[in-house]
Amino acid sequence: MSYSVNIASQLEKSLPDELLALVRAAADLAKAYGQRLYLVGGSIRDLLLGRRNLDIDLVVEGDALELAHLLTKIYGGDLIIHPRFGTAKFRKAGFAIDLATARLETYKRPGALPKVVPGSIRDDLFRRDFTINAMAVRLDPENLGELLDPYGGSDDLEKGLIRILYPNSFIDDATRILRAIRYEQRLGFHLEPSTEKLLRRDVTMMDTLSGDRLRHEIELILMEVRPEKAFLRSEELGVLRMLNPSLRGDGWLAERFEQARQLTKPDATLYLSLLIYQLSEEENEGLIQRLKVSGKMAKTMRDTIRLKEEIPTLADTSLSPSSIYRLLEGYSPQAILATSLASPSPIASSNLIIYVNKLRYMRPILNGEALKKMGVVEGPRIGEMLRALLDARLDGRVETKGDEEALVRGWLKGQASSSPP
Ligand code: CTP
Repeated sequence: MSYSVNIASQLEKSLPDELLALVRAAADLAKAYGQRLYLVGGSIRDLLLGRRNLDIDLVVEGDALELAHLLTKIYGGDLIIHPRFGTAKFRKAGFAIDLATARLETYKRPGALPKVVPGSIRDDLFRRDFTINAMAVRLDPENLGELLDPYGGSDDLEKGLIRILYPNSFIDDATRILRAIRYEQRLGFHLEPSTEKLLRRDVTMMDTLSGDRLRHEIELILMEVRPEKAFLRSEELGVLRMLNPSLRGDGWLAERFEQARQLTKPDATLYLSLLIYQLSEEENEGLIQRLKVSGKMAKTMRDTIRLKEEIPTLADTSLSPSSIYRLLEGYSPQAILATSLASPSPIASSNLIIYVNKLRYMRPILNGEALKKMGVVEGPRIGEMLRALLDARLDGRVETKGDEEALVRGWLKGQASSSPP
């Protein structure tokens, strides 16, 4: 079957008008300046598969930066340029297109970013990860829609195969190991047998990747619709243990991911917390360092491991809401959710969920100002009373503003004798 016949009309049908107008504008400009423009990469793969993809990557045999500048000058919009890579992102009307100069890449050493020089569209396609991502469509008005498929990408799409372009592909760029698995599982494809063999051979090349590149690829997996599929496959291929030998892509993980989706709309951090749940503190710390995880995600990973220690305390039906609150306050909500899904104790799980869904949002009606007006002296006592009011509210001892005021008045009266909150 030849895909090239109606690819122009498919393209026109699949893109929103505003985006199509941007692509057309770029094509017209390229033509006016004698440069050839192509649509490349994932958007063609998805176009041929009938999957929606609004990530438009354009490659120009010429100068992408010049074209991007001209485009902005004539049509307005915003531009972000990366001169080092010869790439630009052009944004207008809520849409974006990526523009790159066709390039030839050579890899000095495994895992490092490649040396880049301008090249032809064929060179540009050859430097790509898999045949299904290495196709281009001509955008010049005379040849609009003509498919360039020098490496058999459309055949592999039909056969459902993920195939690298040359034997040392995984050595040059080991992110392709994770990318291969991600596409295979997303599309329900198979690794082409010699690609699978080479992937297994080169799995240790993952050690050549920087933490940032490795983390980025894992985050991409975590953003898939069903990320567990890629982790199960990674375990099978010996890839997961390259991250940490104690990580498991198994039925337990698949069940937890599925439950997470039933409970909420999980983000990458929640999935990651479930993935690392079985790790020891030391292993977790090692993974945080290896992947250079920082900020909220690192805190959530650490909280997840620390929270495991609290499960015995949380597995108590008589725990008051205020005790649950005090135990869990400060922990990342994603870590709490992950623990509720992973905990073997249904009571602990239920207490964790109550906190995430309800308790953590509760506040007293009275605030510091109101307490001052009632005669509480400014200072640490205000904070103590607010905490005590919150506890009373959490445990259902107050309901209305009047209830809270009565409690405060009682504390103020008893100030001399008892020390209330
Ligand atoms: N690419 C590559 N090797 C990489 C990253 C990207 O060859 N390590 C190429 C592929 O041709 C890919 C294109 O750059 O199709 C765009 O990359 P990206 O946006 O990451 O992938 P998409 O194919 O758009 O996939 P996704 O649907 O996951 O966004």
